[in-house]
Amino acid sequence: MFTEKMQAALNGQMNAELYSSYLYLSMNAYFKSVNLDGFANWMHYQAQEELEHAMKFYDFVCQRGGRVQLAQIEAPPSEWNSPLAVFEDTLAHEQKVTGLINDLVEIANEERDHASQIFLQWFVSEQVEEEDSVGGVLEQLKLMGEAKGGLFMMDREMAKRRPSGSADE
Ligand code: FEO
Repeated sequence: MFTEKMQAALNGQMNAELYSSYLYLSMNAYFKSVNLDGFANWMHYQAQEELEHAMKFYDFVCQRGGRVQLAQIEAPPSEWNSPLAVFEDTLAHEQKVTGLINDLVEIANEERDHASQIFLQWFVSEQVEEEDSVGGVLEQLKLMGEAKGGLFMMDREMAKRRPSGSADE
């Protein structure tokens, strides 16, 4: 059974995913403003992925016969001091999202909503991947320290990211 509580929680997560997309788009704009186009590319596809996450919640609520409720999306920050600061914020944000997904799983368990439990498993795995990939970038940035040459080399690597699901992703 699809309860009001589950529906409200899933609508809330849809909003959180839309905020994630907004946040990463803002980070994309920051990287463009400091001419790190590879990092900007990485954030562009990150923002796109978050929109896909939001749409998974949207479609699932509809499929269950629920009602999608769109709420206001908070404005994200727009300035950072360095690429390192951006990725520290990104990791902290993904860890927060992992917590939200875990809370949703708890609600699905309490509500004995097996369909939602199964639906949410994809997000549980996705969060492991998200934290791993963001953590990897953060570690590289920390190792590089202030070396400008390293940053430009890394920017070229970040330029290779492609949309999720593409052959050369
Ligand atoms: Fe939709 Fe990055 O979590």
